[in-house]
This record gives sequence, structure tokens and C-alpha cells, in this order.
Amino acid sequence: MKSDIKNRADIEKLVNVFYDKIKTDTEIGYFFSDVAKVDWEKHLPIMYNFWENILFSTGNFEGNPMLKHKELHQKSKLNPAHFLHWNVLFSDTVDELFAGDRATEIKLRAKNIAAVMMTKTLE
Ligand code: HEM
Repeated sequence: MKSDIKNRADIEKLVNVFYDKIKTDTEIGYFFSDVAKVDWEKHLPIMYNFWENILFSTGNFEGNPMLKHKELHQKSKLNPAHFLHWNVLFSDTVDELFAGDRATEIKLRAKNIAAVMMTKTLE
């Protein structure tokens, strides 16, 4: 049986598997590889902190995701289908690895943040 997301190590696993998919994704992978030219060694720990703060209120995330995605959109247009696809990949990754209250919560939080981000980015 799958277990729930319990700690930072579980968050790291989730984030690593998610971005392994993103890296080879034909619909949105190019935003990371070609548009933002993401330095993964820097980006992954930022994402561990982001999600750890969301699930466990660690207060260890300092970033400005809304601004980052606005800047990304200015370089190469994002659209609702991109956000939807991001969410499908994220939820599928959570379901592959975990089950439980926190797994449900992180999927819901991702959906809600994506909705706000989409409105702010595309406005
Ligand atoms: C179409 C969907 C999305 C695409 C293509 C995308 C792409 C990116 C890229 C390329 C970066 C790196 C920017 C940089 O460092 O220059 C980034 C950063 C980030 N993304 Fe996304 N993203 C998407 C949706 C989301 C969603 C839905 C969330 C949250 C639920 C999210 C959370 C973050 C966070 C926290 C950062 C780091 C921000 C920071 O360093 O301040 N992204 N994203």
C-alpha cells in the first residue's frame, strides 16, 4: 500500500519524479529547457522548500512565483492548456507515489495556486 507524504524526503522524491517528467515533456518541457534555461541544481531545492512550506509550514520558501511566471509568459506565451497539463502531470505523479490526506492536500493546493497563477499571469 502507498503511504502518505510524511516529511521533506518524501517531498524531494515527489519533486524529483515530477521534474524528470517535465524535462522530457513535449507540451511544456521547452519552457524549462529553452525559455528559462533552468539550472536544475538551483531550481530543485527551491521547489523542495516551496512544497515543504505549503504542507508543513516551515517558512523556508523565499521566492516570487507569480512574478517568475509573468516574466516567463512575457518571453514565451503561456496558456490555460499549459497550466492544465502541468496540473495533470503533478497530480498523476502524486498518485503514483503517495496516498493519504497530505497527498490529497498537495494536489488541491497545486490546483488552487495554478488557478490564481493563471489569472495573474495571463491578465
Ligand atoms: C504552465 C505551467 C508552468 C510552467 C511552464 C512553469 C515553469 C516554470 C519555470 C520555467 C520556472 C523557473 C523560472 C526561473 O527560475 O527563471 C518556474 C518556477 C517556479 N514555479 Fe512554475 N511553471 C508552471 C506552473 C507552476 C505552478 C502551477 C506552480 C505551483 C503550484 C509553480 C511553481 C513554481 C515555483 C514555486 C517556482 C520558483 C519561483 C521562484 O524561484 O521564485 N509553477 N516555473
